[in-house]
Amino acid sequence: MAGRGEDRRPEAEQGDINTTAARGRYWERNLSGEARTWFEEDRRVFLHQSLSTPVLNVIARAEGPWIEDLQGKRYLDMHGNGVHNAGFNHPEILQAVRRQIDEGLTFCPRRYTNIPAVRLAKKLAEIAPGGLCRSLFCPGGTDAIEMALKLARLVTGRFKTISFWDSFHGAGFGASAVGGEEHFHGGLGPLMPGAFHVEFPNYYRNPWRFTDPDDVDAECLRQIEGVLKREPEMAALIGEPVSANPVVPSRRYWEGVKELCEKYGALLIFDEIIEGFGRTGKMFACEHFVTPDILVLGKSLGGGIVPLAGIVTLERYNCCPDRSVGHYTHEKNALSAAAALAEIDVIERNDLCGHAAQLGAYTQERLREMAERHPLIGCVTGIGLHIGIDLVRDRKTKERAVREAEAVMFKCMERGLAFKTIDGNMITLRPALVITREEMDWALAILEEAIGEVEAGSTY
Ligand SMILES: Cc1ncc(COP(=O)(O)O)c(C=O)c1O
Repeated sequence: MAGRGEDRRPEAEQGDINTTAARGRYWERNLSGEARTWFEEDRRVFLHQSLSTPVLNVIARAEGPWIEDLQGKRYLDMHGNGVHNAGFNHPEILQAVRRQIDEGLTFCPRRYTNIPAVRLAKKLAEIAPGGLCRSLFCPGGTDAIEMALKLARLVTGRFKTISFWDSFHGAGFGASAVGGEEHFHGGLGPLMPGAFHVEFPNYYRNPWRFTDPDDVDAECLRQIEGVLKREPEMAALIGEPVSANPVVPSRRYWEGVKELCEKYGALLIFDEIIEGFGRTGKMFACEHFVTPDILVLGKSLGGGIVPLAGIVTLERYNCCPDRSVGHYTHEKNALSAAAALAEIDVIERNDLCGHAAQLGAYTQERLREMAERHPLIGCVTGIGLHIGIDLVRDRKTKERAVREAEAVMFKCMERGLAFKTIDGNMITLRPALVITREEMDWALAILEEAIGEVEAGSTY
């Protein structure tokens, strides 16, 4: 059975890569005139790196669940880097940002506070579960992850961590160390010491070929306890409640992890940078499972307009007043806070959590029906509007259909549907939560057409 590490280029762990022949063909067929000029300029001035530069295309506008390229072509964007929960450029969030600018306070120097920042921290304390009530903000997700790691070290007086293979927690040194992707480790030499990794419970693909989810959970918990026993002095276990693929662990699994953390004195940190703010059908993904000691937020927190991330933790961890856990220039940025308050308001008033739960269930059902017609679909997973489709060459061997996934992706792109692949062969659908059922139906029809063509032998 195909497991971790086979038929996948390390650089494809995070997403579709920008060095393949198919990507070259996409550029040839889709970029011309002004777009080609800016594409080449971008290529000339930015540092080239995997997954970002050279870019896919040049974007001119974004609205709701849609992005539009410089040539006026619109794409229903099922990726959005996870910042677009309320949709791109939501008018009410834009209005809140403009209002804050007009009020004359955007940046707030450190050592001062401001009303939007205080209101945001109060709002998070109100909506976060299980007594999570103390916030600290910073500009990006990587920083927030590293603040969580620092807080866990300060609180416990320990430095070791457990996290998951194949996870991504950001590109900084500390965040890369707890991340589990070779792509972000390779070539760098030693990262943060004491970062141990274990398997995330994957019910479709796991190294032990277990088919019973209970066996997978038991083995994964056994491995965590094995590390905790052999490596005493563990500061924290950090993970996404649902993996990026996305695999949805059982509630029992996370309850077991929490019990182990408590037994061995480690904190539980949940990275909800992607999954927070309605994505999984609840305001926070942890509400499906257990409350962590530290909740890490980012991406959509800034309303899809400004960069903002942060942590929310328990009252008892407000215990290091003589240390700087996160000493960020934009710690209490009033403009970012205004955007975040507006984002939460939009999610709440429009019940985007309920919408994500319902439309997500409908979409998974449609995809499972599609799987009955298309052997290329090995498995459909996910929760809310966080959905993955595992494409396989053979349902028995589960060999990853990497080239096929790329072909499906580019065929969809040409028809106006954008998404990202992960692990080489997984199609991930993470649209804005404002997407309508009609838009989802349209997207699924395009996807099925592309899958059918690839199954019939068409390449890109
Ligand atoms: C789960 C997860 N954690 C952390 C990060 C890092 O966030 P940022 O890119 O804002 O540093 C990301 C970014 O993609 C992410 O998906």
